[in-house]
Parts: sequence; structure tokens; C-alpha cells
Amino acid sequence: MELTPRQIVAELDKHIVGQDDAKKSVAVAVRNRWRRQRVDEAMRKEISPKNIMMIGPTGVGKTEIARRLATLTGAPFIKVEATKYTEVGYYGRDVESMVRELVENALGIVRTAERENVKDEAVKRANDRLIDMLLPPVSRKKSKSQNDEEDDNGEETPENKEVTMFSDEELVSLTRHDRNREKIRKMLEKGLMEDRTVSIVSETRAIPMIMSNMPGMDAMEFDLQEMFEKITPKSRTKRELTVKEAREFIVEQECDQLLNKDKIQSSAVELAESLGIIFIDEIDKIVASEKQHGADVSRQGVQRDLLPIVEGTTIQTKYGYVKTDHVLFIAAGAFHRSNPSDLMPELQGRFPIRVELKDLTKEDFIRILTEPDGSLTKQYQALMHTEGIDLVFKPDAVDALAGYAYSTNQKMQNIGARRLYTIMERLLEELSFDAPDMHKKKVVVDAKYVKERIEDVCKDEDLSKFIL
Ligand SMILES: Nc1ncnc2c1ncn2[C@@H]1O[C@H](COP(=O)(O)OP(=O)(O)OP(=O)(O)O)[C@@H](O)[C@H]1O
Ligand SMILES: [Mg+2]
Repeated sequence: MELTPRQIVAELDKHIVGQDDAKKSVAVAVRNRWRRQRVDEAMRKEISPKNIMMIGPTGVGKTEIARRLATLTGAPFIKVEATKYTEVGYYGRDVESMVRELVENALGIVRTAERENVKDEAVKRANDRLIDMLLPPVSRKKSKSQNDEEDDNGEETPENKEVTMFSDEELVSLTRHDRNREKIRKMLEKGLMEDRTVSIVSETRAIPMIMSNMPGMDAMEFDLQEMFEKITPKSRTKRELTVKEAREFIVEQECDQLLNKDKIQSSAVELAESLGIIFIDEIDKIVASEKQHGADVSRQGVQRDLLPIVEGTTIQTKYGYVKTDHVLFIAAGAFHRSNPSDLMPELQGRFPIRVELKDLTKEDFIRILTEPDGSLTKQYQALMHTEGIDLVFKPDAVDALAGYAYSTNQKMQNIGARRLYTIMERLLEELSFDAPDMHKKKVVVDAKYVKERIEDVCKDEDLSKFIL
């Protein structure tokens, strides 16, 4: 969250080529949340986020920007498809559920952070329990029960003391036992017993899947879920785990015990309210077209349901009421059959910042193929590497690939960078099949190699319709 706009853009640049305007807008919007947090209270209430609409043809990086932004900012972030919602009362998920998802996401963030705070204590407790499993404490029932009672009374008469209850031999063996337990603790802490096995009893409940696709069911879902959790019997299963696995398991349990659930839930709600970002993809798909009706009723309805959420309203969630006034919304759509102005006027007005993503050029394709950390050429190289094959792409090959991708996009439907996927797949399908049986350990892909495999398909329009 401390990233400056410039740093955010730099991070996005690692994965997405070009589209500078869009990157800048989202970076500024994210930074503005951070700024708002620092403004004094009275002013903070006044500052509402400026929602963004990203408009651009298909396959040019809209969703990709959102995806990368999500991993980058520590802010609660969710990406939803506008098409998955239906108007309240219709069969399907209602729009409000996106806010619930956002809070879930925030809860995860808060829990992870809080967990760090109790981690040490949890590990200590886990080690204690592991010792008990490896070398159970000797039952000191004789003295213990009495001692406990005495402790309650705050008295301690000599004849009730532990010492008097054991014979000398017993005492010696007891102290030896204690010493052994101490040794085990040391070894556990040093990580010397990680491969020993212990058996753990875990309790699970078979909770029935709850159908959430019923109208209005969404909100009720959690109540039912909780109810079922209470009434379904636990089933105990015993498992053999290594100390290492068992510790992880117990640490989880202990963390849950140590964490203050209520506190976490209320900070999650707060975090979602003040820093949450909801990315609504495919917003153009809920534009009602003039010709058809029927399904359109529902689409208009979704737009209408969206309005208050984007404007700022209060939504009931499992963790309390959530205000959406300061949640940032980023909408994206290709809008190739419609315009942003086909959205309901009120909704358009709530996305004041418009950024256009540009069509990708051949030069962009060259960069997309080679530059990003996980670029396609690097992906295939890594895949072939597992077969012991060194795959090399010559610059002229990349140039040729980009050229074919670009011209195919021009001739047929423009599907943006997605075209590179089909072209690359076609290029390497033969190699992918043969790779394990090959003796040659180095494959060089140059322009000729590309031409041999792509040109025919590219020229023949019918063929390329199927393949590319
Ligand atoms: N500018 C870019 N730089 C790098 N990769 C890109 C770029 N644009 C698109 N891609 C790649 O192309 C694929 C499709 O992109 P993305 O999902 O972002 O498309 P989109 O703009 O959301 O399209 P749609 O409108 O169809 O949803 C992704 O795998 C992405 O990695
Ligand atoms: Mg998309």
C-alpha cells in the first residue's frame, strides 16, 4: 500500500506492455486511498473515490491490469464479472454479494497480519503439545488432584505436598522423565525431530453444501452454514503425521484459539470500507441492446442494482454492516457492440474517470512475447527445459510471430494479445509432441522455422479460422 504511483506503474510494467494511461489511472486511484487515510477525519469523510472505467478492445490487458494490481496492493481487492449477477429476485447471484466477497477478502488480509502477531506463542504451544505426544507426561494423579484442590483453597499443608506422595524411586524416575521431556523440547525447538511421526486426532464435520443460487438465498447462506455447523456431529479421524506436518496443523489450531475473532472481523469491515477495491469486468455485457428483450430486463436490473452500491450504501454481511461509500470501483469493458453511453445515465456518471486502452501493434506483440517476466517465449522455454531441451528464439523469429499475429488480427477478428497464444501453440505443437523422444538437445527457432509452420495456415483464410 505504500507504493507510489510511479512504483505501481513500474510493477505493472513488468507484466503488461504499454497501456500507460490505464496503468497511471489505476496507480493514482490506489495511491489516493492511501492519501485519504492520512487526511484528518472531517475531510476524510468528504473525499470519495473517483471510480474508473477502462474501455478497450478485447485482449489488450484490461483484466490483466486488474489481476496484477490485486497482487500488488495490500488492499482488499476482488474482481467480479458483471455478467454473473442477476437482478434481485431473479435466479442467480445478486449484486450485493460482491461486497460480501470484498469483506471476505479483507478478512483474509487482516487474519494473516494478526496471525503473525500470535505466531510465536502458537508455535510454543504447538511444541508443548508435541512433547506430550512424543513423551506423554506421567500421570501424577495421586498428588495432582489433591494439589489442585489445595491450590484452590490457597492452602498448602505439608502432608499434601507432592513430595510426600511419592516414594523415592518414583521421584527419581519422575525427574528423569522430566529431564527427558526437557531434552525433547530442546530438540524440537532446534528442528531435530521433524521426521518423527505422531498421531493426531482431527475433528471434521461433514457440512452439507448449501445451494446458494436461489434468489435471496445469498444473504441467508451464512446463517444456514453456521446452523449446520452447530448441529452436524463431529467425526474424529486419526492421522499419522510427521512432527513437521503436525506442528503446522497444531499451529493453525492454536492461532485460531489465540486470535480475537470479533476484533478481526471489525477491522476487516473497516479495511474493506476504507481501502477496498472492486473491479467489475465485462461491464459492457450488461448493456441492454435495443433489439432483444427478455434477458435485457434482467441486465437493466443489474445496472439498477449496481447504482446504490457504487454510489454508497450499507450492505449487511456476515461480519456486520459495510458501507460502500469509499470503496473504489474500477469497471472494464470492451464496448465493441455498445458504448459507455448505453449504460444507464446514472451509472455512467459514477465512473467519471475514463481510460482507453489501445489496440496492440506489432511492436507491442514483440515486446509481449519477450519482455514480461512470464512471457510466452519464457513459458515455453521453461516447459521444454523439463524435457532437457534448450529452446532458443531468434529475434527474427519473434518478429515474424508478431507479424503473423498482427496480420491475422487484421484479417479476421481482432482478439488482441490472445492471438499470440494460438500462434505460439501452432508453432510449437510438433515440438511439444516430439520433445521427450528427441536426441537433439537444442532447438533454435528462427524466421524460417516460423514461416514453415505458420505461413500456410495464415494465408488460407478458412484454415486460419479454425486454427489460429
Ligand atoms: N498489454 C499487454 N501486455 C502483456 N500481455 C497482455 C497485454 N494485453 C493482453 N495481454 C495478454 O493477453 C491475454 C488477454 O488479456 P486480458 O485478459 O487482459 O484481456 P482483456 O483486455 O480483459 O479482454 P476482454 O475484453 O476480452 O476481457 C492475457 O493473458 C494477457 O496476459
Ligand atoms: Mg477481460
